Amino acid sequence: IFSDVPQAPPDAIFKLTAAYKADTYDKKVNLGVGAYRDDDGKPWVLPSVKMAKRALLENEDIDHEYLGITGLNEFTSSAAKLILGSSSEAISEKRVSSVQTISGTGANHLGAVFLNKFYPFDKAGGQRQIYISNPTWANHKAIFNSVGIKPVDYPWYDAKTVGLDFEGLTKTLKEAPKQSVFLLHACAHNPTGVDPTKEQWKQIADLFEQQGHYAFFDCAYQGFASGNLDEDAYSVRLFIERRTIPVLVCQSFAKNAGLYGERIGALHIVSTTPERAAAVTSQLSVIQRSEISNPPAFGARIVTMILNEPKLWDQWQKDVTTMADRIISMRKSLHSLLVEKYKTPAPGGNWDHILKQIGMFTFLGLNEKQCALIVNEGHIYMTSNSRISMAGLTTKNVEYVASWIDKAARS
Ligand code: LMR
Repeated sequence: IFSDVPQAPPDAIFKLTAAYKADTYDKKVNLGVGAYRDDDGKPWVLPSVKMAKRALLENEDIDHEYLGITGLNEFTSSAAKLILGSSSEAISEKRVSSVQTISGTGANHLGAVFLNKFYPFDKAGGQRQIYISNPTWANHKAIFNSVGIKPVDYPWYDAKTVGLDFEGLTKTLKEAPKQSVFLLHACAHNPTGVDPTKEQWKQIADLFEQQGHYAFFDCAYQGFASGNLDEDAYSVRLFIERRTIPVLVCQSFAKNAGLYGERIGALHIVSTTPERAAAVTSQLSVIQRSEISNPPAFGARIVTMILNEPKLWDQWQKDVTTMADRIISMRKSLHSLLVEKYKTPAPGGNWDHILKQIGMFTFLGLNEKQCALIVNEGHIYMTSNSRISMAGLTTKNVEYVASWIDKAARS
């Protein structure tokens, strides 16, 4: 048995963490996984999370019973308000089904299983498929493939401008069968850091309305784009406020609360009536029961406190700004080193995309061979599509990294 099981390739992102850990070179840098680091390159436990943990520890009333199948109610309702807005009509009209998930990956998976079961693909050209941006987070393809929905690329990144291929994107939105499902990154696009402007989002929403497309939002970086949680929810709220676009949102607290290992997230599906929302929740509950039974409590309790207790909420706003600001300052340092110190030739004519790109990642625009040089000779771990996690840069290593980007760009 199992003699014909083929060896699977390692995960493109997590293999970098393993290689980094095994490397003994003293100047090694990990720019692979999208996880925030402080200026010493260390994981950062947010002060707001520390405060919540302390209060939890002292609370004698906390037990270790199962949560409900759809999670901690206080968590899901406050998480919905965070992404949809505290004055969201969809929430006040009870049209949102919110379920606690195993972080953003779990939300994507639960959303995918639900669509696979209930989405009218026969009305969307008959293909069981989802349009995903080219490129996208590597796991999107795997998640949809695993439930039997075929991922199909739509244009996003334009290598010539190192920016958004807005024409290609809108053309696909117009030409895809009506009622197609499109996955959109709500903000801080992973891996490119290339986001539409507000004006472009409006035009994208117009096309969703005209074509009856389904918007499958993935929001893993709320707060990381602008440092402002409401500002980063712009696209999601715009679509939902139109009332005519069917929307679901996958939400993760891995990055913005630094709760990577706690696997805390949520799936929110917006329906047109409270009755439909109740039926959707009941079906999500059935799926969840068979897959994870009940979600884990610890992260849900921490996030609930942060979202509801004024002192913790204020601290969290500061924490999110601290992370966003450090990343922005690293963008400025890397840009100025490449432009002023090294005068490095840039793939799109200049390095302005380092400043313009949004969120945790910069997509350098280098080719695979150049990236391999940086990894193999510079001991700087990054994905082969030239994505670097800006959170891995520090005031101490940025010059070393710039020197290797310079060598690669000239190779
Ligand atoms: C990333 O893109 O690096 C993160 O979202 C981590 C992951 O799960 O891939």
